[in-house]
Amino acid sequence: MKALISDIHSNLEALQAVLADIARHSVEAIYCLGDVIGYGPNPRECLDQIMRYPVVLLGNHDQAVLFDPMNFNPVAERATMWTRAQLDRPIPNRAAADARWEFLAERPLKHREGDFLFVHGSPRNPLNEYIFPEDIYSEPKMRSIFAQVPRYMFQGHTHIPGIFTEALEFYSPDEIDWEYQLDGRKTLCNVGSVGQPRDADWRAAYVLLDGTTIRFRRVEYDVETTIRKIREIDELDDFLADRLRSGR
Ligand SMILES: [Fe+2]
Repeated sequence: MKALISDIHSNLEALQAVLADIARHSVEAIYCLGDVIGYGPNPRECLDQIMRYPVVLLGNHDQAVLFDPMNFNPVAERATMWTRAQLDRPIPNRAAADARWEFLAERPLKHREGDFLFVHGSPRNPLNEYIFPEDIYSEPKMRSIFAQVPRYMFQGHTHIPGIFTEALEFYSPDEIDWEYQLDGRKTLCNVGSVGQPRDADWRAAYVLLDGTTIRFRRVEYDVETTIRKIREIDELDDFLADRLRSGR
């Protein structure tokens, strides 16, 4: 069984809670679909944890910290610059800081295993394209995306978990009793966000994948600690803290 996590966004409390939940299942490998950093207060700690996993994709926020933010709003851009400064700090030493930068710079955009494709955003624009639930009404967009999917695709980026079928239906996890059986037809699965959920549920989201069975998980974490940390950092807007409590 694999655990698929995404969009941690430097939220260490959420990451630790998800890892504790993963430890209660027989998970052999953890894959991360990008955006380890950006927005939150613990970029170094989150990266140090995620660097141990066999598949870690580049997200648009990871890329923005590496290079320069493009088309980011002022709040996200300021958080990006603060994150970059944190990664430049030689904690606990210069070699550790260099290893984090090197790790980020080497991240792939996609990972494929037979019928399974893993991306951050979408197959045609892995870093930046969003696939939102309402995109089921954009048939040309969805047809073009499905055409590039081998059979099954797992993604993050929108922070909204759920299943997209080739019949252009979207199911949120609670609509399918938190479980979905892949059945040979092309399917997309958004695994949700560990550190900044945006589906009106504040709990950390991730997915367990056992063969062709998807299980959506939600995990409570110490959100008030994360909120307090963000509020104490001037460069991280209070909005980034407050939205964690409502999951929006
Ligand atoms: Fe993200």
